[in-house]
Amino acid sequence: MADPQTLKTDARRHHDPSVRGFASDNYAGAHPEVLAALTLANGGHQVSYGEDQYTEHLQRVMHSHFGPTAEAFPVFNGTGANVTALQALTDRWGAVVCAETAHINVDEGGAPERMGGLKLLTVPTPDGKLTPELIDRQAWGWEDEHRAMPQVVSITQNTELGTVYTVDEIRAVVEHAHGLGMKVHLDGARIANAAASLDVPMRTFTNAVGVDVLTFGGTKNGMLFGEAVVVLNPDAVSHMKHLRKMSMQLASKMRFLSVQFEALLAKDLWLRNARHANEMAQRLAAGVRTVDGVEILYAVEANAVFARLPQDVTRRLQERFRFYFWDEAAGDVRWMCSFDTTEDDVDTFVQALKEEMAR
Ligand SMILES: Cc1ncc(COP(=O)(O)O)c(C=O)c1O
Repeated sequence: MADPQTLKTDARRHHDPSVRGFASDNYAGAHPEVLAALTLANGGHQVSYGEDQYTEHLQRVMHSHFGPTAEAFPVFNGTGANVTALQALTDRWGAVVCAETAHINVDEGGAPERMGGLKLLTVPTPDGKLTPELIDRQAWGWEDEHRAMPQVVSITQNTELGTVYTVDEIRAVVEHAHGLGMKVHLDGARIANAAASLDVPMRTFTNAVGVDVLTFGGTKNGMLFGEAVVVLNPDAVSHMKHLRKMSMQLASKMRFLSVQFEALLAKDLWLRNARHANEMAQRLAAGVRTVDGVEILYAVEANAVFARLPQDVTRRLQERFRFYFWDEAAGDVRWMCSFDTTEDDVDTFVQALKEEMAR
């Protein structure tokens, strides 16, 4: 192990590792247990492109979480995971019904449309969640050749607004979608935070209620990088392997993706990390509620706090801590907690918020 003192003075270290903000859960580094697992997988030769022993073992680990039909396809990033999964679920004429706030709609640079050739049929929602009634606003016209054919419902758990679908809410979405002959994709960039919040195993709100395919978020949960498409219903997809390669998401040294998932999932690191991030968000929300004039916008159910405050206060605060406007005109901001957020980070931030509101 390198001496931390030496590292501090190493000219190759270009940042201060004691500085953390509330901008994103992927501003955090990798969890030390993940880094240790990478070292373990290093050395010697392993077959490339997923025929290695780490990827083989990962399938068994995934079975323990998602049941024996689950098959994991490790990929580089979440956009790639979503676009690959959605292509595998649709025909060329297919469309995907999703919330207007869905990452696939607002934060993937048009990749589902441009790279996946997919039409997104979006629905405004009050809290980032789809319901059977909201799905019906776009799920129609299957016989109409003038309309892209709604074939998939995509939900995000937890949502981009920090809210968490209950198990019953997902069951209702899946039953409705399946009843219409549609399949269900779950964007699980923060699936661990959702499971921690609901206090149930991940399978309870995925394969147990009939979700066809999910994307599992590793990066925000403590990996260096990497996500996985997890196929739960093999009959719902076609040609995942070919689509992953065609979508430029096939890693040659896949063992280094797979071993990171194993580090998270073989024991309880995924849950420890997610619980901690969620607890820090609760602490942050409790602190923010003590500050007059700051409004919390959505239920704080995972690791995000959305708030409305005067723009000038936000700008001053941003000189002290990194975080983003969510809707600048409205004065809405997003504060994210991660697995390495500390109580002290939260308390210092709340104190700064109080000071700036009082100025
Ligand atoms: C809901 C959601 N899906 C997917 C992703 C993954 O995106 P990326 O392509 O940046 O890994 C993110 C990351 O912010 C996300 O918040």
